[in-house]
Amino acid sequence: MKILVTGGAGYIGSVVVADLIKLGHQVKVFDDLSTGHEDAIDPAATFINGSMLDKLALASALHNCEAVIHFAAKSLVGESVTNPELYWNTNLIGTKNLLTAMVQADVRKIVFSSTAAVYGDPLSSPITETAQTIPKSPYGESKLAVDDLLSEFCQSEKFAAISLRYFNVAGAVGNLGERHSPETHLIPNILSAVLNSEHIFEIYGDSWPTKDGTCIRDYIHVADLSVAHVKALTKLTHGTHHILNLGTETGSSVLDVVAAVEAVTGKKVETQISSPRDGDPAILVTSNKLAKEILGWEPVYDLPKIVEDAYEFMKANR
Ligand code: UFG
Repeated sequence: MKILVTGGAGYIGSVVVADLIKLGHQVKVFDDLSTGHEDAIDPAATFINGSMLDKLALASALHNCEAVIHFAAKSLVGESVTNPELYWNTNLIGTKNLLTAMVQADVRKIVFSSTAAVYGDPLSSPITETAQTIPKSPYGESKLAVDDLLSEFCQSEKFAAISLRYFNVAGAVGNLGERHSPETHLIPNILSAVLNSEHIFEIYGDSWPTKDGTCIRDYIHVADLSVAHVKALTKLTHGTHHILNLGTETGSSVLDVVAAVEAVTGKKVETQISSPRDGDPAILVTSNKLAKEILGWEPVYDLPKIVEDAYEFMKANR
């Protein structure tokens, strides 16, 4: 299949691109390198350096494509609270540009990176796709707006769409791993405290309503997540928008993750408690029943494997 991958130079996008190439697909990567890295793009993919706000560049990138996997977005909860405009422009306007260009090019198949952040503070756990969506951050709001837009395009333009709502993606596949600057994510931050004695790991709040007072998340290996994208491409149906949560159904607190890092690395993690971060929900753990049913997918990796792979990646890329 000929596939356009927006954001294919980013952490998750680059892993998916490598998997697509391995399976024999022809891939074009469209990325402005604002947070991605050119050296993360599989050399067998064609790279187009372009912005989601550039309608002409999008139109030309779609030439000869059959489907799109759309990762290109801003994705930090905290940053979206301080700079919401960046999130509305890149995530909503950028996607609107892409969908309009797709109609013009008659490319009507899309797999979209949505997020658990659309659910806000869920009323019950594990979260299913029918749960109320009340995002706590502009990031979650902008992704929810795109999910709604995709439903409309499936109705009015006979798009075939699957939104994949990621829970906490982590781990690495060989030399493809998290390289954010600044790094805000939990597992790289704990590992960085292990690898650098001057870095003390900060726990954002220890009086959340959870078993040990720290936030609980559902960590999923980027390799498992990638497989779900590849399967989603084969399940696209015109006129239908599937929304699927991707996670492992296992909740780990920040302290559980610290313990997993200590077990994997054999090193003690220095921690300090700081204030809770704006926009953080206390607990996000998903059901993955619907994803299993629709995609025929099952995550295979657990938290120790996620930490192990992220640790190997970080040691090699310090
Ligand atoms: N945390 C710390 N210290 C850190 C970093 C994080 O205590 O240095 C805590 C956070 O407060 C949170 C948990 O660790 O409770 C996970 O934080 P991350 O920043 O790793 O991830 P988030 O849950 O904030 O967000 C991630 C993605 C979002 C996605 C969300 C879905 O960045 O895009 O998972 O669950 F929406």
